Amino acid sequence: MSEASPLNDEADIGRILLTAETIEKRLDELAETITQDYRSQAQPLTVVVILTGALVFAADLLRRIPLAMRIECLSASSYYSGKQTSGQVSLGQLDHLTVSGRPVLILDDILDSGLTLHAVQSRLQERMKGAQAKICVLLRKDRPRQAQVDADYVAFDIENEFIVGYGLDFSGRYRNLPYIGVLKDGI
Ligand code: IMP
Ligand code: MG
Repeated sequence: MSEASPLNDEADIGRILLTAETIEKRLDELAETITQDYRSQAQPLTVVVILTGALVFAADLLRRIPLAMRIECLSASSYYSGKQTSGQVSLGQLDHLTVSGRPVLILDDILDSGLTLHAVQSRLQERMKGAQAKICVLLRKDRPRQAQVDADYVAFDIENEFIVGYGLDFSGRYRNLPYIGVLKDGI
């Protein structure tokens, strides 16, 4: 068992799952796929970035996509207590988002229980007059979903374990690590 180090994030990582180089290479491929898929759209793409977890992923992915786009942000919180969702999702204001008549791509860090992305996708679609908002995630966990939702674009499929880094946190920490790792036992 270990205790979290007060000032050194790296010291708390037990194992690296995805290195910075692996993530960067995969983002090149993913950006190319998305660019090809949206290249012939008549309207600029609206990308809805789910804060705070998708912040790092979005910054790196979107700079690789040379298409006309609007970037909008939406806060979502699922009241994570420790390492498990409470099952309740709270979303920020959606009314100002430019989504009607546009192709929309939702960007999130991880598809876990699916509750967050299901809530975001259904709330956005109410305002999109029948059009479909697609979903792109950095990570998709291999576990049963608690809501009916899947991602259209996935950078990495991973096992069902709690990870941190590259935007993902535990108690607000570790988001700025440039890689994705698993915390030491007991943290
Ligand atoms: P959901 O359970 O699919 O609704 O995921 C909600 C949010 O929980 C994600 O956007 C992440 O911010 C967070 N989350 C889920 N799994 C992990 C994890 O392994 N590490 C850190 N955060 C996670
Ligand atoms: Mg989080």
